[in-house]
Amino acid sequence: MSESNLEYEFEFDVRLPKDLEIGTATSSWQIEGSVDSRGSSIWDDFAKVPGAIKGGITGEPAVDHINRVEEDLDLLKWLGVDAYRFSVSWPRVIPGGTGEVSQEGLGFYDKLVDGLLARGIKPAVTIYHWDLPSTLQAAGGWPVRETAERYADYVEVLANKLGDRVDRWATHNEPWVAAYLGHAAGWHAPGIKDDAKALAAAYHLMYSHGLGVERLRAAGAKNVGIALNLIPTFADTPSAEAAAHHIHLLQNQFWLDLLAGKGVNAELMAATSHITDWSFVNEADLPLIAAPIDWIGENYYSVTRTTDVNLGGEGGNGQDTHAFPGIPDTAFAPRPPVTNMGWEIYPAGLTYVLEMIAQNLPGVPIWVTENGASVTDVVDGNKVIDPVRTHYIRAHIAALLDARKAGVDVRGYYAWSLMDNIEWAEGIDQRFGIVRVDPVTLERIPKNSALWLREAIQERNQRA
Ligand code: BGC
Repeated sequence: MSESNLEYEFEFDVRLPKDLEIGTATSSWQIEGSVDSRGSSIWDDFAKVPGAIKGGITGEPAVDHINRVEEDLDLLKWLGVDAYRFSVSWPRVIPGGTGEVSQEGLGFYDKLVDGLLARGIKPAVTIYHWDLPSTLQAAGGWPVRETAERYADYVEVLANKLGDRVDRWATHNEPWVAAYLGHAAGWHAPGIKDDAKALAAAYHLMYSHGLGVERLRAAGAKNVGIALNLIPTFADTPSAEAAAHHIHLLQNQFWLDLLAGKGVNAELMAATSHITDWSFVNEADLPLIAAPIDWIGENYYSVTRTTDVNLGGEGGNGQDTHAFPGIPDTAFAPRPPVTNMGWEIYPAGLTYVLEMIAQNLPGVPIWVTENGASVTDVVDGNKVIDPVRTHYIRAHIAALLDARKAGVDVRGYYAWSLMDNIEWAEGIDQRFGIVRVDPVTLERIPKNSALWLREAIQERNQRA
C-alpha cells in the first residue's frame, strides 16, 4: 500500500501530559541476534522450516542488539523516554529451559537494567515474549501444564537477580498470540495447527501468569502485571455478529475473566466443547490466576471487523478464521486506511478497548504497552520520512487521552517499536521502528516519528 492513500489530516494538537509515562518497546528474539551465545528457542526452530518466515530470515543477526547495546541505550537517552520495555530471552538465561542458569546471559540483562537506570530510564521487563526454549517444546510446550511450572522457576531467577531494580514487570506479552497464532493458525512458532492444543496453551499461559505473579511477589518485585492484546471486534452485518462475539470471547473476555476472578468463560467453554472438554482446567488454579495485579498492559494496533462470508473480505495479517477455534463461518473486512500489515487504522478503537478494560478490571491502572504501525519509509539522505507513522502515534495518544477524559486510569504509552526489527513470520519487510535500522549495515537512524516524539517529550519537560 502506498503512502498517498494514508495521508489525512488530524485536527488536534497532542501535548503529552506530565503524568503520562512515555516509553518504547522491543522484544528479545526480534532484536538481539547472537543466537550462538544462548540456548535454542522455538523461533529458531521455526525459522528452519522452509517458508515459515518470509525471506528465510532467522534470529541472526536480527539488529545485533546484544553487541550494540550501549549504542541502543544511548539512543533511548537521546530520545528522552521515561521508560524502556524489553523482554528477556528465556533460553539466554536458562539455555536448557530448566536447570542451569547462564551467568553470561543473566548478566546481559543485569547490565541492561543498570545501563537504563544510569541514563535515568525506568526498566520495564517482559518475562515471556514468545521465545520458549526448544527443550520445553520437545517436552510438550504450552499445551502441557509442566511448562507453566518451568516458567515459574525461570521467573524466580529473574526476580531474584533484577527485582531490586526493575520498575515494572509483565509476566507475559500477548498470550493470545502465543496460544492461537502458535497452536491454532500455526503461523507462529511452534507452528502447530491443533485447536484443542491452542485452548490448552491459552489456559496454561494464564496458569503460568498466576505462578509468575506469586514468585515475583515472593522475591519482593514491585509493579507486577501482564500485557494483553485485546481487540475491539465489530460485526459489519447482522449475520456476522455470532462470529464477532466468538472472537470477542477468545480474544478478550477469556483473559479478562480469568484476571477478574470469574474463572474460565462459560460461554466460550460451551462454544468449544466439541473441540476440548477443558479437563486441563484445575479449579484450584483460579484464585492464583486472579491474584490482584498492580497494572495491566494493552498492546493496541487495530480492530477486527467480521462480515458475511460471501462478501469475501480478505482481512489483515493475523485475521484468519483458523486463529479462532470454533468460530462460525465469517470473513474479515478491515476498512481503509490500512497499514502495510493490512491493519485498519482506527484510533477510536483504543479509547473503546481502554474503557472495556476499565469496566472488567476496575481499579487496575492501564499502560498502553505497545502501539505503532508498519508503513513505508522514505529514506532521503540522513532523513527518514514517515508522516503516517507520526500521525498514527499522535492519533492514538489523542485516543488515549479521550479515555482518560472518560475517567479511565491510563498511565503510560509505549511506542512499538524503538527500532525496526524482525516482525516474526513477516521477516524484516514489515518495519515498525521509530528508528530505522539499515537492513545491510544495521546503522540506526531516527525517523521523523522519533524526532516528533523527542520534541513532544522535550516540550512536556519544559512546560511549567
Ligand atoms: C507484538 C510484537 C509485534 C507487534 C507488531 C505485537 O503483537 O507484541 O512483538 O512485533 O505486535 O505485530
